[in-house]
Amino acid sequence: MAKTSKTNSKSSGSTPQLARTAIAIMAAGKGTRLKSKHPKVLHEIGGKPILAYVIATAKKVVPAKDIFVIIGHEAERVREAFASTGVNFVVQAEQRGTGHALMVAREALSGNKAGNKYDQVIVLSGDAPLITADTIRKLSDFHTAQRASMTLLSADLDNPYGYGRVIRKGRGPEVQEIVEEKSANPRQMKIREINSGFYAFTAPALYEHIDRLSTANPHGEYYLTDMAAVFNRARKKVVAMKTPDAGEVLGSNTRAEMMMLDARLRLAKCRELLEQGVMIFYPHTCVIDTDVEVGADTVIEPFVQLLRSTKIGEDCRIRSYSVIANSILSDRVTVKPGTIMEDSRVGAGAVLGPYTHMRPGTDVGAGAHLGNFVETKKIKLGKGSKANHLSYLGDAEIGEGVNIGAGTITCNYDGVNKHKTVIEDGVFIGSDATLVAPVKIGRGAYVGAASCITEDVPADALALGRARQSVKEGWAREKREKRR
Ligand code: UD1
Ligand code: CA
Repeated sequence: MAKTSKTNSKSSGSTPQLARTAIAIMAAGKGTRLKSKHPKVLHEIGGKPILAYVIATAKKVVPAKDIFVIIGHEAERVREAFASTGVNFVVQAEQRGTGHALMVAREALSGNKAGNKYDQVIVLSGDAPLITADTIRKLSDFHTAQRASMTLLSADLDNPYGYGRVIRKGRGPEVQEIVEEKSANPRQMKIREINSGFYAFTAPALYEHIDRLSTANPHGEYYLTDMAAVFNRARKKVVAMKTPDAGEVLGSNTRAEMMMLDARLRLAKCRELLEQGVMIFYPHTCVIDTDVEVGADTVIEPFVQLLRSTKIGEDCRIRSYSVIANSILSDRVTVKPGTIMEDSRVGAGAVLGPYTHMRPGTDVGAGAHLGNFVETKKIKLGKGSKANHLSYLGDAEIGEGVNIGAGTITCNYDGVNKHKTVIEDGVFIGSDATLVAPVKIGRGAYVGAASCITEDVPADALALGRARQSVKEGWAREKREKRR
């Protein structure tokens, strides 16, 4: 790769044929073996679509403008999902095989007949997400050093079933052909060296010879793998570079393979966090998405899920059965068991749960508490405020040092519109209060237990909104005596 870019800077300006590397990502297939109505590359592992990993890795090797994603099955859904990455898309309307995918990309990769846009084309598989930028660069450099027309990345697998097998010419790097599982004879099936589906091609050679591919195989498809035999017939060099890390070439043709990839990614994520000073107990019981960040000395207990772009600070404790999605927690936050949180923010030292349900837009101030069976949605809870038991707080702005009694409900919805409740600093809301929005409770005011508050309460006042208690002396005794 280094060589390619050197040539690039030297030749730029002087000749129109720049030495450049393109990456083509094959992602047009349906994924028949998944038995799914969704395109294979949109299936998620580690909390992100499979193709997202391949594109992110490709972008570490070449700029987005030199990346071409070949889409076909549900093309528009795939394009939409990755439009923001800045890569190019090539539509392969009919999926007639991996060789056909590269035929369709001819114009994008080789430009017009007069000149070649790219010197080298690296081909990646949209369904094999664990490949690393380092390996792609090595493949590219190996290809250049070998002066080959085609270089394939191979790996030794204990169970090579389903993969194309690499037939070498001898002991050297040169390859005779790639034989697909379905066409392999019993002797070839025993070969453990497989074709990973990642290649480097010399672009002009690829497009000079690609039309020699045929569909004479059990699937009736144009196999890109057959380019090895095609090049050999044309006396062009084909070599294999074997990766020592077989794990990074694994594909996802079946749900079982997808599960394995997901488990690998998540375990790798846990190892990375452990490395950074996070303690995770029983990591194989936790579901931690690849983009999650956690600070040092935070402890994650078994059966915790940390999803999407969740960020957790230092010295937190996330107790079992909590599910935290897309939320930001500061330092020293305690999340007690069974807390559910989505699109929320939590200030330092806050204490949540057990069984708090924080819906989108919950913003908890430093040192605040939300306790068991408290449901929140779109609220701001000020510093040190507490709602410890059995409440619904929605569309509310709650100040600092507020105490919300057990069973308090903000009645925010009138059946048509949502209304806001404002509770100023230092307010004390007695248990079982219903606050009918829009309503405002002024700074330092008290609301008596079991009050139904329909009008604003001024600062420092006491509001009572309940029937006066009446007592009928001896009533119960008389009732009992009548029964006899
Ligand atoms: C392919 C290789 C096999 C290799 C394996 C590694 C061929 C013929 N076989 O098999 O040697 O061991 O990868 O994982 O290439 N695609 C398109 N357009 C098409 C067909 C496929 O874009 O017309 C895409 C798919 O979406 C997928 C990739 O190409 O992302 C590979 O296709 P797939 O059908 O998964 O090939 P394998 O059977 O895995
Ligand atoms: Ca595959």
